[in-house]
Parts: sequence; C-alpha cells; structure tokens
Amino acid sequence: MPWKRREFRGLTFARALNVADMRELARRRLPGFVFEYIEGGAEDEHTLRGNRRAFEALRFVPNTLVDTTGRHQRIQLFGRESPSPLIIAPTGMNGMVCPRADVLLARAAASAGIPFCLSTVSTTRLEEVAQEAGGRLWMQLYVMRNRKVAEDIVTRAHRAGYEALVFTTDANVFGMREWDRRSYRAPGRPTLRTMLDILRHPRWMYQVILRHGVPRFVNFESFLPPGAGSAVGGSTVIPTLFAPEITWNDIAWLRGMWDRPLLVKGVLSAADAVRAAEVGCDGIVLSNHGGRQLDCCVSPMDVLPEVVAAVGGRLTIIVDSGFRRGTDVVKALALGADAVMIGRATLYGLAAAGERGARRTLEMLMGEIDRTLGHLGCRSVADLGPHLLRRVPVPAEESR
Ligand SMILES: Cc1cc2nc3c(=O)[nH]c(=O)nc-3n(C[C@H](O)[C@H](O)[C@H](O)COP(=O)(O)O)c2cc1C
Repeated sequence: MPWKRREFRGLTFARALNVADMRELARRRLPGFVFEYIEGGAEDEHTLRGNRRAFEALRFVPNTLVDTTGRHQRIQLFGRESPSPLIIAPTGMNGMVCPRADVLLARAAASAGIPFCLSTVSTTRLEEVAQEAGGRLWMQLYVMRNRKVAEDIVTRAHRAGYEALVFTTDANVFGMREWDRRSYRAPGRPTLRTMLDILRHPRWMYQVILRHGVPRFVNFESFLPPGAGSAVGGSTVIPTLFAPEITWNDIAWLRGMWDRPLLVKGVLSAADAVRAAEVGCDGIVLSNHGGRQLDCCVSPMDVLPEVVAAVGGRLTIIVDSGFRRGTDVVKALALGADAVMIGRATLYGLAAAGERGARRTLEMLMGEIDRTLGHLGCRSVADLGPHLLRRVPVPAEESR
C-alpha cells in the first residue's frame, strides 16, 4: 500500500494533538449551523484568511546553544502576574455549543490562571459566571441603541467583581456573514435543511435544546421585546440592536461608571491607539473580530509594529484574530504585544469535550509557547524581540 500520512481520526479529545484536531472534533459534534456560526467570516472571508496568512509571512531566526532551563511564559497584566500570555476572548451565544458553556470556559481559564472575558451576549448571567467559576473575569461590552443596557451591565459587572471592561467597537455596524445567514430563511428562523441537520445530532439536540431549553441572552433579556431573547438565530437578530452612533466621546461616559482597567477592542490603527490613550483607556485589543466584521481588512499582526511604536509602554496591547498555535502567540509577543486573546480555539475544545476540552486546548497552546521559547533560546517573554523574526513573501491569495 502506498505511504499515506495519518490524518487525525481520534474519537475523543484524548488523541487530539493540536487546535486543528480539536476543530475537527468540534466539526463532527456540532450541527452544521452552529459550527458555521463559530467558524465563518464576513463576506468573501478575505480578512479571515488574511489573519492566518499574516502568521505565515513571519518566520523565526532562532538563537542556538542557549541554556533555557527553568524558562517560563509568565507576564504581568494590569499589575498582576499571569502564568501565560493567553486570555480567553469574549464570544457570544456560547450556549449553542453546550450547556453552561460560559461557566465551563471561565473555569478552564481559572484553572490555567488566565483571564476569561465574558461577552455581553453570553448565555449565562454575568453574576452566575462570577459565582460558579471565579478566577480573573473581564466583561466585554456592546453598546446598544438603548444605553440603559450598557449602564446596567457595567454596574452589575462592577458589583460582581469583574476586573476589566472590554468595550468592543468594531461591531456597531454589523458584519455580513453570508455563510451563516444561509442557515436561516428569515432572522431567527432556521431553514428546513438546518432543522434536519439538528435531528442528525441527537446528542447536541438533547443537551442543548431539549434538556436545558434554547439558550437565551440572559444578560439583557429584560430589555428585549418579548420573544427576542433566544440565541437560536441570535446572529441574525442581535445585529439590529447595535448602536452605530457611538464615538470616542462616549469613553468618558464609560469611564464615569468604571474605575478599573478599561480596554477598547477593535482598534487597528496607530492613530486610534493614540486616541485610546488620550481618552483615558488602559489598554487596547488589536482585533478584526476574527474576520467576522469588515472584509478585506488588515490583520492585527500587520499593524502591530506601528501600534507598538505609537503607544507601547503607555497602553496594554492585546492582540487577537487567527491565533491557533503557540508559535503565533510568540510572534505577536516578539513584535511587542503584551498578551493574546483566543476566540475560536477554546470554543473548539469546548465543543470537543466541555471544560476538559477547553482546558486541554489551553494546555496545548501553553506547551507550544514553552517549546517555541526554548527553540528560540529565550528564557522568558522578556527575551523576545523583533530581531527573532524575519518577514518572508507569501504567495498572493488566489481570487475566488
Ligand atoms: C463565535 C464567536 C462569537 C464572538 N462573539 C463576540 C462577542 O460577543 N463580543 C466580542 O467582542 N467579540 C466576539 N467575537 C470575537 C472574538 O472576541 C475575537 O475577537 C475573535 O474570535 C478572535 O479571533 P479567533 O477566533 O480567530 O481567535 C466572537 C468571535 C466568535 C468566533
């Protein structure tokens, strides 16, 4: 028989070696419309693919024969030590993956000692996550047309002990995820094909829909019109609630309610990063929302060096979008990022095996970061720098 490489065929996460294996398990376990919701990007998905290509264009130039015994990946984040430069990014509607998903992700983060950022559109109330998971919790904020929603969430997150507020600014005009839209015949109304696919995933249907009831936007359900709180089809309903009129002037309004670290998520230019510093933010998340909003957008990795040159040392710079490997994380740190948020990677782990799957995904990434530091001859992230990277050409993307 001719030699053929062994692809991942494992039935459980125990055999998964990397994030791609976890993704494969997630793809098999979730109904297509849920996997598509997690996976997809906006329009032609140039941004989505560009996020991965940005990493391909960066190669390491390692230092050899360096004693790296006792190396570590600890960082300081808002005055506290974190054992790894990872943060779990806010993702909405997690309850579509499995029951109590937000609590399970938060627990996975807590056991790794890293922050978990809860989405405004979570399917578990922020108070419940704080009570049942503990650990370092951050709250993500979407500002909707009705400002009372934001005021309510910020006040409650403060009271529940959330450590940082992450104000997402790149979804005020909502991205068009056409692949996701095809799962519905109208907002919130799955197609017949989607319904049949659900029937082909009885375990998911029992656990997510039948046993626990359809997940709901519990953080702000009391502000929604009757019947609008269901997360099935939320990706088509939620966009209509967002406020396109918010500006930098609104940061003062948030600052008045929040005296802990405040970050703006969705910055992609040095000018906006400077603006964030000027209006009193503590940090930024360089992000294109994992390719889900503006298509044909730069990758955060493309602009990271100029942003670091503009605000490095003044603001905490966190990067996300497209991180799937420890090498990706180390590349961002070498270019001057302080930490990295991961979105889909831990969702794959969650879909594969709940809290244990998410925890295993974090362990895999932390193991990869550790190995990469070792290969580069670095004892800690303090030894990293742009001198360890070289930009190489990647072939032009084929037009579709
Ligand atoms: C399924 C899904 C839901 C998301 N929901 C939110 C959200 O509610 N709020 C937010 O600020 N970002 C949201 N994001 C964006 C993530 O916070 C993050 O920017 C992105 O996932 C990073 O890219 P990655 O998935 O390639 O790691 C979501 C992303 C995904 C994949």
